[in-house]
Amino acid sequence: QAIYLKDYTPPAFQIETVDLDISIEAGFACVTASLACQRNPAAADPSASLVLNGEDLKLESVRLDGRPLGQGEYVLCADQLMIHAELPDSFTLTTVSTINPDGNTQLSGLYRSKDGYFTQCEAEGFRRITWFLDRPDVMAKYTVTIHADKAQFPVLLGNGNPVGAGDEEGGRHWAKWEDPFRKPSYLFAMVAAKLDMLEDWFVTKSGRKVRCAVYVEPGKLDQCGHAMAALKKSMKWDEDVFGLEMDLDHYMIVAVGDFNMGAMENKGLNIFNTKYVLARPDTATDIDFQNIDRVVAHEYFHNWTGNRVTCRDWFQLSLKEGLTVFRDQQFGMDMHSAGVTRIQEVRTLRTAQFPEDAGPMAHPIRPASYAEINNFYSATVYEKGAEVIRMIHTLIGKDAFRKGMDLYFARHDGQAVTCEDFVAAMQDASGLDLTQFKRWYNQAGTPKLLVRGAYDAATKRFTLDVEQQYPATAYEKRLEAEGRAVARGAYHLPLVIGLLGADGRELPLRLAGESAAADTQRVLSITEDRQQFVFEDLAEAPVPSLLRGFSAPVVLDYPYSQADLTHLMARDSDAFCRWEAGQRLATDILMAGVAAFQAGSGDTLAWVPAGYVDAMRALLGSAFAPGGDPALVAEALMLPSEVVLIEATEGTVDPDAIHAARLALRRHLANELKGPFAAAYHELKIDAPYSPEATQAGARALRNACLSYIAEVDDAESLALLQNQFDSANNMTDSMAALSALAQFASPARDAALERFLAKWKDEALVVDKWLQVQSTSRAPDTGARVRALLDHPAFDIRNPNKVYALIRAFCAANPKHFHAADGSGYALAADAILQLDALNPQVAARIARSFDRWRKFDTQRQSLARMALVRVQGHDKLSRDVAEIVGKALES
Ligand code: ARG
Ligand code: ZN
Repeated sequence: QAIYLKDYTPPAFQIETVDLDISIEAGFACVTASLACQRNPAAADPSASLVLNGEDLKLESVRLDGRPLGQGEYVLCADQLMIHAELPDSFTLTTVSTINPDGNTQLSGLYRSKDGYFTQCEAEGFRRITWFLDRPDVMAKYTVTIHADKAQFPVLLGNGNPVGAGDEEGGRHWAKWEDPFRKPSYLFAMVAAKLDMLEDWFVTKSGRKVRCAVYVEPGKLDQCGHAMAALKKSMKWDEDVFGLEMDLDHYMIVAVGDFNMGAMENKGLNIFNTKYVLARPDTATDIDFQNIDRVVAHEYFHNWTGNRVTCRDWFQLSLKEGLTVFRDQQFGMDMHSAGVTRIQEVRTLRTAQFPEDAGPMAHPIRPASYAEINNFYSATVYEKGAEVIRMIHTLIGKDAFRKGMDLYFARHDGQAVTCEDFVAAMQDASGLDLTQFKRWYNQAGTPKLLVRGAYDAATKRFTLDVEQQYPATAYEKRLEAEGRAVARGAYHLPLVIGLLGADGRELPLRLAGESAAADTQRVLSITEDRQQFVFEDLAEAPVPSLLRGFSAPVVLDYPYSQADLTHLMARDSDAFCRWEAGQRLATDILMAGVAAFQAGSGDTLAWVPAGYVDAMRALLGSAFAPGGDPALVAEALMLPSEVVLIEATEGTVDPDAIHAARLALRRHLANELKGPFAAAYHELKIDAPYSPEATQAGARALRNACLSYIAEVDDAESLALLQNQFDSANNMTDSMAALSALAQFASPARDAALERFLAKWKDEALVVDKWLQVQSTSRAPDTGARVRALLDHPAFDIRNPNKVYALIRAFCAANPKHFHAADGSGYALAADAILQLDALNPQVAARIARSFDRWRKFDTQRQSLARMALVRVQGHDKLSRDVAEIVGKALES
């Protein structure tokens, strides 16, 4: 059953304070909650009864201002507790309930993991702990007293400040925590576990001494240093860039191995997936280290964008997520290479968000309706949401953006607000009318920008014609079918451009009618369906450099020649555009290759244009020229992924031809550039001790990119090189690079390497995940069968989300050749997994179900196999709302 944004009404009651007492016993927990409630003067119905949410709770008693309520004074149904007793304007309601954290396999609410008890309350997990108005516009002050066995669960944590602790009889103990800030229930957290702690201090710019603590599974203290450093860097960065300070005396991060998502920004008590905390050079890759920086920063930044100012309702999720992702991206650009960071973000957007926006789950960053909110923690709300914030930043400029942020906090600190409130602050601070811009919040789909350029030598003018296209998506079609009007119109977006001369020089950009000598880069404000820009005084035909820095989340269509692309790839001053030109060139070539393979002539390689190998040779060489950037070259050497090529396909997708063409081009480059790859590989050897910082990681990235090409040459020499790196690597980045290259071939060398790797790392859960994923993403012909076999391997555990993501999700999302196997075996595997998971953890099951999003793009044979799998899932009784929504929308499309 769908919930609609238009139906929002303020809550009938507000809750001023919440006093919780949670006692963890053997096999259950007892929760006493005292809620100080008040009628909300802003409520629509001044006599409404109090209706509390609850899920999987066993109600023991209810009291109103101390008086036990009898039957008839309240009504209990599956997920609601309705108080019918006469209610004064303010009163205290006390409930006692028991819950079963040990049986909570959904990992929402209070649940057991290996080392103790943890919580996850966003979005609607608090109702699985106690009866509550579980919605973000109900903000209260919380205290919690936790009781548990002292020996088993020596660490008891809550939000805010510790205000008391002591021992109890029977070897038990208690601790009380008080959060001085009002917060919505989704930010509540508690922990009762056996954990080790790393402690450090941060002094804020106004002199508050903050205790920073990272809690991890016993024995893992040597893996928390990087997360701690990231936390302190984030605290400093938010002060420097946004003037935002930590507001508590305690800031805690707790790592847990069983966690549905990445991490959670609970006030003062973040709970993290171990994947984004634990790292040591021999267990984590450069990318893992970088991701830790980003996720730690993300959760820390939520303290202001999310916690101090929160969301009125869950439709506004992008208010906090888009903005906070934008902030962690800016942090990433400041901490690592700005260009490479941006390229990686665009790649994520294209592999996860563009397909979402083109499929049955398409939705705007603020959807108008949902059945299950957990399905909307999506690439659109997060990643496209961040792009929308970035566009505001680009349109109004950095200084006005900062003013807008200051105004947003000045107006809304302590409130639960909407996306309009954010845009209004940006508009008022900058003076730019953002009315039209708000369409980004209501319209789904990736717009297409058709740009055409024409140079007139006689007038020395270059004319750019820009047209936007934004056809209705599955989202708008559904709204229309429900009889709800959908207004669609042109977007307001920044198109950042430059013009390159034949010598690579950046030409000054003077628009017709302007007098001043102009810049070589400018922001064109696009607002119309069609617009024209005329640049004057150009002595030669320029090559336009368009959408610099990926200034808007659109698909750009410009008829570049291969010569233009080679020129941009070598000379553009914008790192993103340099990379993009190479990706575009490779995509054009690969699409021709796909057609050739379909026609049976792929192997001739006649579709690879003369000059491509030379362009790639020059690209590799540029890493070693003065000012060269190995990290950027590593990105540029990587051909567009099969997933990106699937999205770039206009008609029916042929995953086998895509795979064949991409592999043929890789092998061709590997053979033609064998010498340069080997030379670069040796040149880039690092003798210094391992460090995850950008320069060293960049060199490693390029070296391992070379290795992956070298591995494509099928000879004894390259196998020896791989084997040698695998045997001698002193860090996980190099070790995984070698293992993943070995894993592409069904061979004794692969089997031996995988076996040794597992034997060495079987006790490091996160490394075992890598072992699973390297197999599930392999192109080797036996991958489907191996993934099925691994489901029964003792190293796999279907109750652990990280394991499911490594083995099943990676197979479905990142291995199109095998997932879309023509016999339907990949689809059947996914359907089996979804059904098995749905009974345990619907959120995770729904994520796997998303693998079918693009089923309509394939041939009729595959479509009928995919449909069978979807119908089989849909036909299951007791399907969760999570999976039902995904599968229902997929089948409707
Ligand atoms: N707010 C968390 C984050 O930083 C994500 C939590 C999502 N949880 C969920 N069950 N959907 O991004
Ligand atoms: Zn977030």
